[in-house]
Amino acid sequence: MEKERSDQFTHTLQHKDRENIWHHMSIYNEHTPVIIEQGEGAWIKDSLGNRFLDGMSGLWAVNVGYGRERLAKVAYEQLKKLCYAPLTQSHEPAIRLAEKINSLLEDDYMMFYSNSGCDANEIALKLIRQFHQQNGEGTRYKMIASYRAYHASSLGALAATGQALRKYKYEPLTPGFLHVAPPDPYRRPKGQSMEVYNLARARDIEEKIIEEQNETIAAVIMEPFITGGGVFIPQQTYVQEVERICRKYGVLLIIDEVICGFGRTGKLFGHQHFGIRPDVITMAKGLTSAYLPLSITAVRKDIYDKFKEIDGYSHCRHMNMFGGNPAACAVALENIKIIEEEGLVQRAKDLGIQLLHDLQDLLELPFVGDIQGLGLLVGIELVEDKASQRPAKEERVASIIAECKANGLIVGKNGGTVEGSNTIITLSPPLCCTDEDLEFMVAVLKRVFAAHV
Ligand SMILES: Cc1ncc(COP(=O)(O)O)c(C=O)c1O
Repeated sequence: MEKERSDQFTHTLQHKDRENIWHHMSIYNEHTPVIIEQGEGAWIKDSLGNRFLDGMSGLWAVNVGYGRERLAKVAYEQLKKLCYAPLTQSHEPAIRLAEKINSLLEDDYMMFYSNSGCDANEIALKLIRQFHQQNGEGTRYKMIASYRAYHASSLGALAATGQALRKYKYEPLTPGFLHVAPPDPYRRPKGQSMEVYNLARARDIEEKIIEEQNETIAAVIMEPFITGGGVFIPQQTYVQEVERICRKYGVLLIIDEVICGFGRTGKLFGHQHFGIRPDVITMAKGLTSAYLPLSITAVRKDIYDKFKEIDGYSHCRHMNMFGGNPAACAVALENIKIIEEEGLVQRAKDLGIQLLHDLQDLLELPFVGDIQGLGLLVGIELVEDKASQRPAKEERVASIIAECKANGLIVGKNGGTVEGSNTIITLSPPLCCTDEDLEFMVAVLKRVFAAHV
């Protein structure tokens, strides 16, 4: 009886859904969504009572896991006290959060609040163009980004994105964006050392700067580790060399921490693996663990100083009404407190080492080409055969994802990236995973993969 009721309830909701919701990234009228009702720790439950371990933390975001009463309470209390104040004025949660983020970044930044990773990157691009104009270098407007990287779907951030399938039919986008190949250790030339390969990839950026004329280049924008486009882990040499090249040519460095931030890779921020000093850092997702929308564009103070009023238009004129909502800021502060109190950054590092170790057996299968990962961020690349390294057929990827789901595990993939190359299965589970959660994830993956030989 109970089952019949939940089946009926789900069916009704799915019907109404189909009539009214245009789903993200979904094919016309083909989508029958799972209706998610509840979450606890790393697990979610749907309207039919099925439980899934969420191996993707929603969309790489619910870092502290689901069902945190502390976060709900903080939001409730803040909404009662003050639901909204525009940041043309100020409020205490925004002030406290900005101070806290500065202490975590170990440098001196100014925080510009907004609502999404998209906003944060769009603001970064605008602020940098304005900076160069006000710094006497108005010819610098071009940005260099990586193929495969994702920086969001608005016309500017999409132009920075290096994924052709995300752009197709939306072009022309904002002009002035150039792309270079990121390091993909799996596909480096045979016999080339990692060190030489990573340096060569960084030098591609230098060449691009020279070929395009140094004085026209405003910034390099990059994720510390490419995530949604497939998981690519560069060597320290690469990122440090990119920073050196930026400094040499007066080009600013924007680091997109929207996924890598807040512990995902076993450091609080991804760039902290490399000892670099970004000019601008963007963050969202794990900032509130997705309990409420919030993002930040952190801009180094010496850049901010170029926004002193000279001509009536020297201040930043980007505006977004919801940015820095008091409840979202309060949730972010509490979320960071949880990450610190529970040692979730270290936990991500330790679990990540375990996970990579446990997944090594998969490499023996003929269709598993490569596994890359750091912390709780892992990509498993499927190929047609190891010798050619040709990407697997997408049907194989879809069937593995579906079977993982049927076995209670949600995994992702680098969807809609580059034609024929969307064959990297991704894992990005909550950082609060238990040892048993990890064992479950590995067991399901091994079972499903083995059945595909
Ligand atoms: C690296 C990166 N940057 C930016 C974004 C855009 O964030 P949002 O979807 O919150 O606009 C994403 C989203 O997945 C992302 O992965």
